[in-house]
Amino acid sequence: MIIAVDGTLASGKGTVARGLARHFGLPHLDTGALYRAVAVAVLSAGGDPRDPETARAAARALDPSAIAENAIRTAEAGAAASVVAVQQGVRDALFDLQKRFAEQPGGAVLDGRDIGTVVCPHADVKFYVDADPAVRAERRWRELAARGDTVSLEEIRRQLDERDRRDSSRETAPLMRAEDAILLDTTHLSIDATLAEAVRIVQNKTDAA
Ligand code: DC
Repeated sequence: MIIAVDGTLASGKGTVARGLARHFGLPHLDTGALYRAVAVAVLSAGGDPRDPETARAAARALDPSAIAENAIRTAEAGAAASVVAVQQGVRDALFDLQKRFAEQPGGAVLDGRDIGTVVCPHADVKFYVDADPAVRAERRWRELAARGDTVSLEEIRRQLDERDRRDSSRETAPLMRAEDAILLDTTHLSIDATLAEAVRIVQNKTDAA
């Protein structure tokens, strides 16, 4: 069983994906972490994330088992990830890795922006997770504040709008809801309620199969 979870920044897609993986005993891949790791590799080598050659070389050299969780979770890494993610060379370099992960025996849960549309168009269940931008900005702000990041809520909102725009308007594999993806709007839902709903949907699908 392959479960695809796509959605906007700080919508709760990662939480849904991790929760589903735990519930159904499936391996989970956070594909945003791959783009973030590519961005961090470029930045720490003093490179420009906008340069396609540099970004593609970093994507090809990426060792997913050596990703440093702390370094990739900063606001700077997220912004640069969205920049490298625009580039086709980067997406191509990361495609096989994601595909192999999805197709391992027993299945997997993957979350990102283009899982249901590009990486796993034949996924058994597809979710599209979204929430009101003001609610998402506040969630991300709390997350960063808990990590000691002092960036203001207004700045987070500005970055979020910019990331949404860049992720949705890029030519290659833009963020969009797959036709057959089930929408989970988490604006008014708690994490537990969202996850319970997602589990129920997957259960219904598998029972019906
Ligand atoms: O979900 P995230 O914030 O960790 O993702 C970081 C960036 O990576 C996001 O702005 C767009 C890009 N990304 C992508 O283009 N495709 C994916 N499948 C996952 C992430």
